[in-house]
Amino acid sequence: MSDPSSRIPGFYKLPLAERQAILATLAQLSEDELKSLRLGGIDEAGANAMVENAVGIYALPLGLALNFQVNRIDRLIPMAVEEPSVIAAASNAARMARQGGGFFATADKSVMTAQIELRGITDTNAAKKALEGARPEIMLLANQAVPRLIARGGGCQGMELRPLKDGRLVVHLHLDCLDAMGANLVNTVAEFVAPRMAELTSGTIGLRILTNLCDRRLVRASCVVPAEALADTPETGRLFAQAIEAASRFAEDDVYRAATHNKGIMNGVDPVVIATGNDWRGIEAGAHAFAAKSGTYQPLATWRATDQGLQGKLEMPMALGTVGGTLQVHPGARLALKILGVDKARPLAEIVASVGLAQNLAALKALATEGIQRGHMTLHNRAVGK
Ligand code: MEV
Repeated sequence: MSDPSSRIPGFYKLPLAERQAILATLAQLSEDELKSLRLGGIDEAGANAMVENAVGIYALPLGLALNFQVNRIDRLIPMAVEEPSVIAAASNAARMARQGGGFFATADKSVMTAQIELRGITDTNAAKKALEGARPEIMLLANQAVPRLIARGGGCQGMELRPLKDGRLVVHLHLDCLDAMGANLVNTVAEFVAPRMAELTSGTIGLRILTNLCDRRLVRASCVVPAEALADTPETGRLFAQAIEAASRFAEDDVYRAATHNKGIMNGVDPVVIATGNDWRGIEAGAHAFAAKSGTYQPLATWRATDQGLQGKLEMPMALGTVGGTLQVHPGARLALKILGVDKARPLAEIVASVGLAQNLAALKALATEGIQRGHMTLHNRAVGK
């Protein structure tokens, strides 16, 4: 599903079965897919194939966030989440953003980084020189470890050397993983090239693993919400925009607030990451490490009141896959991608970042105006028909 409108007025008032029927029509779901939606996405055999010692299936509600437009394309957003009001709040914020043209987002290429730790380096300069001299050979070797990725157009993009104290030298190899999340590819490369690196530097091999701080795989999302979309009148809307900017500045100046501000963003990000079968622990680790990269933990999204309206911007790492991993064994995850209408990692990252920005807008608007209990719980009660 993509271009059919994601505006479905009154969706929340319908019985669940009717919502399923609408979704089935919009996303052209088969009987089997509908069945999988009802049963939680996997059966016992699937669970047994995925993890060790499986004894059952743990389910979460799956809801649809509405009103989203990302890079001018309407998207229905599947969200797997236990927290009430998250889906209603995201839909509400997306409706406001839509009045300013929706969300605009760009994702970097899917570059993941392998860390190869070399220990016992007695002469760092000589070791660096040896590795630099062998750069073409190392990159070739890295590519030999992942022939199928090379065949599809991905592969090693560069090498970086990072000396640490106590005779350690960390080599970063950057790998374009295309539509894979990339953990397996990157770890394969790290293990494959490490012996040659140890030989070149007369060091010993330490850890060989990806970093979840994948800061070459960032995504940026933005929106401009017109004042009149924020409140009943443009005057009140402008006041709300200023109040939301003040809430953003609180997070920019205070780490305790920044943590909660970012939690609100992850309220939007994680449910889509989970629904699409992606590694949400990796996304969380990357998000918070990136937020702290300057040395001071910062908000991942910020807001400013401008003459055009309330402007929001988000930037964060986003390592998501649309092939391999869980997707191979989890029909529910494949179904979520079908509902979203994406089969490539970069548009998926752009959508997820937009949902994070929407969720942040919803939380800040509620906090800066009526307060979260009243604001969000009213949305929730309305959505569940109380
Ligand atoms: C609650 O799950 C999330 C919020 O605390 C986020 C925020 O404070 O920005 C409402």
